[in-house]
Amino acid sequence: MHVHEIRRCFPALTRIHNGLPVAYFDGPGGTQVPQVVADAMADYLFQHNANTHWAYPTSEETDAIIAGARKAAAGFMNARADEISFGANMTTITFHLARALGRTWKKGDEVIVTDLDHHANVATWRALEIDRGIVVRAARMIRETCQIDMDHLARLAGSKTRLIAIGGASNAVGTINDLATVRKIAKSVGALFFVDAVHLAPHEPIDVQAIDCDFLSVSAYKFYGPHIGILFARKDLLESLPFPKLDPAPDSAPERAETGTQNQEGIAGVTAAVQFMTSLGVGAAVPGGPAGEDARRHTSLLWNGLKSIKRVRVYGVPPSEPRTPTFAFTVDGKTSEEVARALAKRAIFASHGDFYAATVVRTLGVEGLVRAGCAAYTTGEEIERLLAAVDEVSSGNGGRNRK
Ligand SMILES: Cc1ncc(COP(=O)(O)O)c(C=O)c1O
Repeated sequence: MHVHEIRRCFPALTRIHNGLPVAYFDGPGGTQVPQVVADAMADYLFQHNANTHWAYPTSEETDAIIAGARKAAAGFMNARADEISFGANMTTITFHLARALGRTWKKGDEVIVTDLDHHANVATWRALEIDRGIVVRAARMIRETCQIDMDHLARLAGSKTRLIAIGGASNAVGTINDLATVRKIAKSVGALFFVDAVHLAPHEPIDVQAIDCDFLSVSAYKFYGPHIGILFARKDLLESLPFPKLDPAPDSAPERAETGTQNQEGIAGVTAAVQFMTSLGVGAAVPGGPAGEDARRHTSLLWNGLKSIKRVRVYGVPPSEPRTPTFAFTVDGKTSEEVARALAKRAIFASHGDFYAATVVRTLGVEGLVRAGCAAYTTGEEIERLLAAVDEVSSGNGGRNRK
């Protein structure tokens, strides 16, 4: 699909702010939603709304919609439908998984996380330090490149390591991590392997068989869907782990990893979001399609453009290394919030701060970062607008700051 066709699917892109069309660069925090996703959710609520497992049509339709969404999510990541469970968001579902795993470990057992990660994939495991006496070790981030120090990670792994929990890609700086190396390290010490693919899923195909992980989580609202978390867990683990649950709840996989009544309209939206991803030619089903090419072009345009502006520092790896089109930068003499506010005045919506990847910001020694991320609806023209605005904001002289 051509980008202009893609854009017509998103009602939010008609928004005007200060007389200008809004350019959304906040996709890494949550993408805009196409009409088809909202329609699927409204259709569920208006036509099929019921609780599950009863003997009348709307309840049976609800069961079928949930089963269909598990199948769609499974297809999205090359898993089986009975390996997919849903939760409020990635953090909640991972927290739930952590409590289940923690029950199988003993005091002194170890989990490895990394300094590059979103803290949803750090704090969830750290909670086990207090609850279970588990020791959490963090692999360092290489400051110059914002990549994980794999030698350090390998040195941390040993006979006490029960799990390595790592991001597929950094939501702060866009680094795509070398999951194959992490898998090898995990296998070499007999540890389980968890991947936080929340930032990877909107940009790269996710294949749990190829990644060869035991667990992987994504959030649909990062790939044009509703606010809902999805967990893949290997069948045998999903069947056997002691998930905390209340008595009448089902004890069969995959429901045993879920609690209470699900966000059923959100689940209906997951199917539509996965279908939308497939139609875009991004994501699991169609790697390297036309949208992939746009992303590569935009990545170079943003990287080279930001690099060319004086007093702007860009963090992370260049486009020649594995990365997503998500860029973090600072402007000398301005806080990240000041820059984000100045961009917002020009109808350019970009996030600022640490994006819950607090150790990245701490390691870089900055107050905060401005983050500009491309999505399938981003145009080259919007990137040019962003670059001109950053130029203007950084020079304070109407934009003659580019080297
Ligand atoms: C890489 C990454 N992991 C985890 C999360 C947390 O996801 P959720 O908001 O679904 O809990 C985010 C959200 O920004 C993220 O970007």
